[in-house]
This record gives sequence, structure tokens and C-alpha cells, in this order.
Amino acid sequence: MKKYFIIDFDSTFTKVEALDLLGEISLSDSRQRTERLQKIKEITDHGMDGGMSFRDSLTKRLKLLEARKEHLVELVALLKARISKSFHRNEEFFREHADNIYILSNGFKEFVVPIVTQYGVKADHVYANSFKFDHQGRIVGFDEDNILSRNNGKARQIERLKLKGEVSVIGDGYTDYEIKEAGLAHKFYAFTENVTREKVLKKADHVAPSLDEVLYINKMNKAISYPKNRIKVLLLENIHPMAERSLKEEGYQVEVHSDGMDEDELAEQVKTVSILGIRSKTQITEKVIANARRLLAVGAFCIGTNQIDLQACLRKGVAVFNAPFSNTRSVVELAIAEIIMLLRKIPERTKEMHAGTWHKSAKASFEIRGKKLGIVGYGNIGSQLSVLAENLGMEVYYYDLVEKLALGNVRRCQSMDELLAIADVVSLHVDGRKSNTNFFGRDLFMKMKEGSAFINLSRGLVVDLEALKENLESGHLVGAAIDVFPQEPQNNQEQFVSLLRGLPNTLLTPHIGGSTQEAQENIGDFVPNQIIQYINTGSTSNSVNFPQVLLPTLQNAHRLMHIHHNVPGILAKMNQDFAKHQINIVGQYLKTNETIGYVITDIDKKYHQRMIDDLKSIEDTIRFRVLY
Ligand code: NAI
Repeated sequence: MKKYFIIDFDSTFTKVEALDLLGEISLSDSRQRTERLQKIKEITDHGMDGGMSFRDSLTKRLKLLEARKEHLVELVALLKARISKSFHRNEEFFREHADNIYILSNGFKEFVVPIVTQYGVKADHVYANSFKFDHQGRIVGFDEDNILSRNNGKARQIERLKLKGEVSVIGDGYTDYEIKEAGLAHKFYAFTENVTREKVLKKADHVAPSLDEVLYINKMNKAISYPKNRIKVLLLENIHPMAERSLKEEGYQVEVHSDGMDEDELAEQVKTVSILGIRSKTQITEKVIANARRLLAVGAFCIGTNQIDLQACLRKGVAVFNAPFSNTRSVVELAIAEIIMLLRKIPERTKEMHAGTWHKSAKASFEIRGKKLGIVGYGNIGSQLSVLAENLGMEVYYYDLVEKLALGNVRRCQSMDELLAIADVVSLHVDGRKSNTNFFGRDLFMKMKEGSAFINLSRGLVVDLEALKENLESGHLVGAAIDVFPQEPQNNQEQFVSLLRGLPNTLLTPHIGGSTQEAQENIGDFVPNQIIQYINTGSTSNSVNFPQVLLPTLQNAHRLMHIHHNVPGILAKMNQDFAKHQINIVGQYLKTNETIGYVITDIDKKYHQRMIDDLKSIEDTIRFRVLY
């Protein structure tokens, strides 16, 4: 049976209501602009919800608009930039099915035709109202004989077309539903990409958050293989709202929970989820992954990924992303503040003041300018700290296990001994690898200069706290600032227990080095971007567990993603399948790690479902996806 698509214009084909936009143009110099525009909007919405007769609404709006012919030129230019995203990416659908597509609008031909014909819609398949102008070009009314200016006009117009086949209506307003109500369409899709009207949703046969969804249901999708609105995202643990916003903007279905989930609950919930976002509390275990049938990616909205079984994710073909440098600056700022505080003995002074003691003295108080800072671990944080410290006039040295690019005038030390013999302040920024457990103990404290200060903002397990305590009590160290501890309370209700409590000139902070609003915002922005890029293009740069591939974007080609167990010969088998189906490969990228192989293949436009089935059935395939 032939399929016909009757498509609405305002807020469906375009993101906006054209008359609202026309008002913004025509009333741009009017003193009553705001009130009038508000009024026009109210009338539009009232009409759309079915609360006012269409003619009434139109007459009232045109009067408020005071628009002229020349305003329409500007309007069309603006509308061209406001085509609904999913309409724009499915341009091919309009061209290919032009005979079966009608635009049915209560708007006006003067702006509808120039827009839709650009997409290949036939001008004589556009049914809309037309304006009446006076001799000075002012819009003074509309053609009242046009059936679309009457109540239930859309249904009556369709009736005249006498379409023989399956008729689907796609629109956001009540007047679109009226076609179905009149028995003149088989299906009404409530289109919600731009606006959602509750009254209309209730009447829909199907809610379509994008045109992709309609095409997917009708097996006509071309632009993307799977509608984004079908990708379900679950965000746990109070992730910054920015993440929800950008994932929604991408068109995904996003569910947000402020708390974490325990293993059993998550193992249940994860079954329908494609993207999972967590912070540090939620454990992603083998059991959770076993149930994660649709899971494509996990976003760790934090730095560490110890809470995730990365190997289990790999074996299931799930890519994990985190935000390795989103809070770097925050940690660095705290380190700078602490260096100053310690050299001015602020922890002691403030404690005395709170106890009523006024102890004004310059004794043993120093500027940081000209002092020597020794950074242990010259990674993201260590290197950025070096830049800021140098800008404040410090002389900076670093020691790292591996050779790193030294920024500015920073000098590399060949050994810890060399660094400790020079530094007035030692700041630890090593990672938490096992071999770093108790890395900084008695022997290293002994080698620090008399009267130097010590800072640890890296990991608690790295420092032997007993040794630190001894050196603070003996006065060998002038002070210390510690943010991370071997045992940290699980929550804000638990007490903080540590042998460092009560020590002189010691700043203690509850693992807040990276805890700032800016860092949270950065994480909320960074992680979704990595995931969206992975879903859309297959690029895995910054993935914690996947082989790193950075891919070009392509036009007019399909991209196929194949993840398999890392055994020999898979690529050869894939290419045999391509040859068998006479597919031209435009580009191919393979990267492996110990567990998986990751192949991206870009092919010419045409392919057959049988080829997809063949590729999927290659032994040792973990996952296969058509990206676009
Ligand atoms: P990174 O991985 O970029 O840098 C770590 C550097 O330490 C690497 O260059 C590595 O080669 C070096 N390293 C490791 N062990 C070493 C050793 N024994 N001796 C000398 N060099 C060694 O890590 P990033 O992002 O700079 O983070 C540093 C630390 O800060 C990590 O432990 C991280 O967990 C912690 N961190 C703490 C935060 C807080 O809230 N206090 C927030 C963010 C990170």
C-alpha cells in the first residue's frame, strides 16, 4: 500500500511558529512590542490546544502583528535557519518521497513554500493560507475562501485530495489530530521535537520526538540508523544538570536519579539503558554488566574509575569515559593557597585567634616568592601547578617516573633525593597505583630540608601518616596540608578519625581538592561530549578502557562499528563479507588492546541488511552497530 505523509509546518517542519517570528520582525520598533508578542503567543497556544476557533485566532493575531510584505522576506531568511534538526538531516526522505508528501499548514504559503520546496517538497503539494495585502503592502487579512482558514480546514482539505493508501499525519497541534479524528488519516504522530502539548499527546497514536522516529517505524530511515530518542540514558548520583541538558539536546531519553543504586537495583534497571552515568559511589560490577544488554557507554562523572569493573565492560563491548582533567585547576588553586597558608603559619594563627590569643609576629613567616617548590608527579595536576607557582615567583622542580615536557622554567630532578634536598615545599601529585602505597615514608621525610612544608592532595595511601606525624611534632617539618587519607568517611555523617587531628600547623581538608562548582560543571560538560562523540562517530579518544581511535567525520558514507574478542583473523573475515556483498570500503580503522579489537569501516552508501547479518554473525563478535 502507498504511504502518504501529511506534515504540519509551524513548530514541526520549523522549530518555531512563523507568525510569532513575524511579530518579532514587524514589531521590532514598536513600544508595545513585549506585550503584543506575549499576546500573540498566548493566542497561538490557545488555538493549538483547541481552545479557540482558528479564524478567531488568526484575525486577532494578524491585527496585532501590523506586518508588511517586506517583513516576509526577512521572515523567510530567518526560518531557513530554524528548520527542525531531524527534518534537516532527513532531507533525502523529502526528495525521495516527494510524490507522497504533502505540507498542510494553517500558516501562509508566502513563507511555507520557499522553505519546504528547498527540501524537494513539491510546491503544488503545499496547502496553506494566503495573505491579503493593501496597496501599500500591509497585511490586512487573509483569503477567507481558502478552506484552511476555516475550522477543521485541514481535515476538509485532505478529504479533497482523495488519497488512496495509508495516510500518516505528523504535527504538533490539535488541528493535525483533527484529520485523524475525521477518519481521514490512519495514524497521527504527535511531533514533540520542538513543543509538547499535553492535550495533543493524549490523542496521538504515536509520540514522535523526532522525524527519525517516524521514519524508523515506517522502515524508511536513512540519515541515522537508530532514532536517538530510543537511546535511554540513566544518570545517577546527582550529576551536574548540564549533563542532562546536553544529552537531552542530543535527542536522547534521559532519566535522572539523585541517589546511587545498589548492585541488585542497578542490575535490574540497566537492562533497558544504553548510556549510564555515575559518580564515585555506584559500583558497576560483573553482575550489573551481565544484564546490560543494550549498554553502549558508561560515563564516570568523576576522575577515578575504581568503582567500575573495566574488564567486564570491555568484554561486553561497553566503552567507559571519565573526566580526567576537569578538576585539575581546582586542585591546583587549593595547592597554591595551602603553600601560602603554611609558609605564613596560618593554621596556627587562626586557631589561636579563635581561642582569643592575639599573636602578631613576623617570625618564621615567609613569602612564597623565590622559594623552591618540589612537585612529585608531573602529570595533569603537577604540571599545571608548576605554571601557577612559577607565575607567583616560585622556583619549581619536579620529579616524575617518566620523562615529561617541563613547562616554563621548571627543572627536572633525576631522583627524589635531588628534589627533597632542594625543595622548601614538597607537593605530591602522583597517581594511586599499587606500588605507590606508603611511597612517602620515614626515609623520604628525613631527606626533606629542615623547616620545609609538605602537601598531599593526591591519594591517602601514598603517605605513611605515622611518619608524617613524627616529623610535624619534632618540628622537622614546618607544616603540612593533607586533603586525602588512607581511611576516609563514607559520608558526611561518619566521623573523621585520623592520627593527624590536633597537630600543629596542619591544614586538614575532607578530600575537597577537586570539589568546586566549576569542576562539577566541567565534568558535566566533558563526559557527555565524549559519549556523544563516541555514539555518533565511534571516536574513543579519552576512553578509559577502549583502544583509542580518533576518526574523521564523513559525508555520504555509512560507518560500521565492530567490536570483537581479540583473536586473529576477524578483520579478514569482515573484509571477505564486504567483498561478497560487493561493498566498496572508503576507510577502515583497526585498534586492539589485550581484550578486544575495535574496527570502524566506512563504506559506500548502498548496503543490504544481509551484509549486516553476515557481519554480526562472525564468530567472536561482541557488538556491531551501524553509526550512520
Ligand atoms: P596523572 O596521572 O596525570 O599524573 C600522575 C603523575 O605521577 C604521572 O606523571 C606519573 O608518571 C607520576 N607518578 C606516579 N607514581 C610516581 C612516583 N612514585 N614517583 C614519581 N612520579 C610518579 O594524574 P593527575 O590527574 O595529575 O592526578 C594526580 C593525583 O591527584 C591522582 O592521585 C589523583 O587521584 C589525585 N586527585 C585528587 C583530587 C582531590 O580532590 N584531592 C582531585 C583530582 C585528582
